[in-house]
Amino acid sequence: MHTKLFIPGPVDVSQRSYQAMVQGLVSHRSLEFEEIYRTVQSGLQKIFESKDPVFLITSSAWGALEGSLKNTCRKKALCCTSGAFSEKWYEVALANGIAADALKHDWGTPIDPNRVEEALKTGDYDAITIVHSETSTGTYNPVKEIMEVVKQFPEVISLVDTVSSFSGAPTPKDAWGVDVIVTGVQKALALPPGLALASVSNRALERAKAVPHRGYYFDFLELNQKHANNTTVTTPAIALIYALKDKVEEIESEGLKTRFERHARLNKRVHDWVEKQGLSLFPEKKYAAKTLSCIRNTRNIDLPAFNQALKDEFSFCIDGGYGKLKGKTLRISNMGNETEASMQALLDAMDVLIERFA
Ligand SMILES: Cc1ncc(COP(=O)(O)O)c(C=O)c1O
Repeated sequence: MHTKLFIPGPVDVSQRSYQAMVQGLVSHRSLEFEEIYRTVQSGLQKIFESKDPVFLITSSAWGALEGSLKNTCRKKALCCTSGAFSEKWYEVALANGIAADALKHDWGTPIDPNRVEEALKTGDYDAITIVHSETSTGTYNPVKEIMEVVKQFPEVISLVDTVSSFSGAPTPKDAWGVDVIVTGVQKALALPPGLALASVSNRALERAKAVPHRGYYFDFLELNQKHANNTTVTTPAIALIYALKDKVEEIESEGLKTRFERHARLNKRVHDWVEKQGLSLFPEKKYAAKTLSCIRNTRNIDLPAFNQALKDEFSFCIDGGYGKLKGKTLRISNMGNETEASMQALLDAMDVLIERFA
């Protein structure tokens, strides 16, 4: 029996999305593909809330996150860290030989715009990395406030990871004034993994022209050149792009605002459950993610046994904590296609099991 995933990605994929993938392939150099690319493009621009091009990159999100640094950082990157994924982005910079400093915050605390300002005032940096939704701690960073600071430093190209918030919560790229937003399709878009999406500003493209050794596969200038012809640089995951086209149409029918509201409502349902069970969220409620919940294991639940029973008896799977929070937190996704009924089914199952394993 299929185990339904309530982990913070990948999440459950609908039959509709799987079905959308099962079409005969077309060449990515054909007029048919160009038409699909155009439709996907305009749908995605509405979700990014940006006029900038969205590159469809066949890789997991990390490919495009790594690529965004390689394309835009000449001098030094300021990597704002407050959890596992933001720390990893800093490590990825170093692994690429890119000079970088980590602006360290405690896990689960929001990035402080004042500290960002202090750091940028040194003049040392020409790129900044910010994770909007830090999936390891279930925390949203105040990107709007951080960007108000970053915009005062025109040399600095802003790179934002919205991997676990995109399409489940607002990520208004142009209003924020962000240069590059990267996301993946396996989280709130609820598609099988394998595609990264990168919305890239003209400023970032101009910077790329001045950066040598951008590589090939993630080169923004190559991607942009092919984008102008409504296609990709290399053979893309065409079946996933079929599913993405169907997904943007589905989102248009649901309405973006309604989709955000649904995610917020389902997220609140999880928060209410947390309170009812005498548990607490890992971050301060004000900064808690709307697409997933990271919950402190204050009742000492035996999480491996709990999750096994959840799987065996109810065919559900949640997450038992990421990185150094393994065993100390549980994480529950409300991303993608979930409904009141589907979330409640999970919470009811957890009500039954928590008495046994706490
Ligand atoms: C915030 C964040 N950034 C980056 C990633 C990496 O995504 P991928 O596994 O698609 O490369 C994840 C995956 O969970 C994530 O949650």
